[in-house]
Amino acid sequence: MEKILVLDFGGQYDLLIARRVREQGVFAEIYPYNKISLAEIKERGYKGVIFTGGPNSVYDETSPHYDKGILDAGIPVLGICYGHQLIAYMAGGQICSAGNISEYGKTVVYTGGGKLFDKVPSQSVCWMSHTDYVKAVPDGFDVTAHTDNCPCAAMVDVSRRIYGVQFHPEVTHTEYGKTMLHNFLFSICGCAGDWRTDDFIERSIVKYRSELQGKRVLCALSGGVDSSVAAVLMHRAIGDALTCVFVDHGLLRKNEGDDVERVFRDKFNMKLIRVNAEDRFLSALSGVKEPEKKRKIIGEQFIRVFEEQSRVLGKMDVLVQGTIYPDVVESGKGDASTIKSHHNVGGLPSVMDFEGIVEPLRELFKDEVRAVGLKLGIPEALVMRQPFPGPGLAVRIIGDITKEKADTLREADAIFREELEKAGDRPSQYFAVLTDTQSVGVMGDARTYGYTVALRAVTTDDFMTADWTRIPYEVIDSASRRITNEVRTINRVVYDVTSKPPATVEWE
Ligand code: XMP
Repeated sequence: MEKILVLDFGGQYDLLIARRVREQGVFAEIYPYNKISLAEIKERGYKGVIFTGGPNSVYDETSPHYDKGILDAGIPVLGICYGHQLIAYMAGGQICSAGNISEYGKTVVYTGGGKLFDKVPSQSVCWMSHTDYVKAVPDGFDVTAHTDNCPCAAMVDVSRRIYGVQFHPEVTHTEYGKTMLHNFLFSICGCAGDWRTDDFIERSIVKYRSELQGKRVLCALSGGVDSSVAAVLMHRAIGDALTCVFVDHGLLRKNEGDDVERVFRDKFNMKLIRVNAEDRFLSALSGVKEPEKKRKIIGEQFIRVFEEQSRVLGKMDVLVQGTIYPDVVESGKGDASTIKSHHNVGGLPSVMDFEGIVEPLRELFKDEVRAVGLKLGIPEALVMRQPFPGPGLAVRIIGDITKEKADTLREADAIFREELEKAGDRPSQYFAVLTDTQSVGVMGDARTYGYTVALRAVTTDDFMTADWTRIPYEVIDSASRRITNEVRTINRVVYDVTSKPPATVEWE
């Protein structure tokens, strides 16, 4: 399979670059610069290498460098921002600080032909973000673009197929960034662009059918997109050797448990064990108000449930996890203390003694996981669903949790989602929160004292930052009317108009 390597020098855009490459039908994988040697790069037969940006200056003692031999390995290289400066530095050019004329944001760039700029007009807008710049290009390189403040916005050594751009072709603000990446992949690296999700499905089925022959395999199904797609894919590969365990902790959304059961057991005929554990979770959570404590208790209860299941099921050999590519990349960075746990169900492997873990989606981005899910026939409503936190409604009921509160929130949440979807609106995430505020209201001639529910809708690409969604007033109005009419214990509805930061998406 043809592959592009994204060599990460600490920039923020490594995942974005890989996505942009895959969008053009070419498989891309990311490695931190210090986790892959030149010998490995050669051995793996990459069609091209992209150096990412990074926050450093090439002359700093601690700045990341790479083996100069990469420039003579016969593999096309494209350096972006810091990557561009690093190529210039490695090949003997000169880099300078731009001082107070550093460029940030949209900038007009003048490009001068060459394969990278094929079909790019001589003047266009690019996205710049740099303090240093290449003052003198190395021998063998030509300058192919400049801006008003940056004399070398792009350079090339045609004979070695080494390219550098000071700006960021991967961000959408660079008008012709997509064209430039296309040129690099197809006309410079000679890629065929035949990476398809269909191939991925077929390859995975063949691989796991042979690797897992005779093994008993367990998948902890949360009902979320990743574990659902992983489970159906594995089922296609190994059929009844796969057992899925779905823990209903009583803090799921309305009808969610039944929906999961219907899809996996009825539609796909999969071996599914649904553990109804509402009582045990609610009693463990009784009286607990502190958010992190709630999360911890839920994590622990999951482990207890799986311990019990493992006694019923007997020894299972392999655990399937829905880890996806951004998780893999995140855990490859930094030191062990910053690695986040990717267990969908906290701590599971340590209690169930598996001989192996398989992560069939570890190569894929979220949008690719969704495409695979649709190809596998998983209903669109499940594949395209918004994220839902593992601790479920526990982190959306402020203060202590009771069954009555969970039922109240489930109803209000379902109404809000229904009204929003009816209006044709699907923000990145949208849900209701049951606050711990009770207030006075009036219904008919009677005074009421009921809960306040908060509606939350956010728009975001990555959930690291998020904007509150400007949903139409009519939707807020109809949701508010229906909730106060249909949910007896709620007499007040508010809309959350805070972005992240300073707030978070969830209230707890
Ligand atoms: P925050 O609230 O941190 O949420 O802005 C960002 C995204 O993460 C989800 N989230 C969680 N997911 N377990 C999860 O599986 C959790 O404990 C958890 N807390 C937040 C949240 O729904 C949003 O999509």
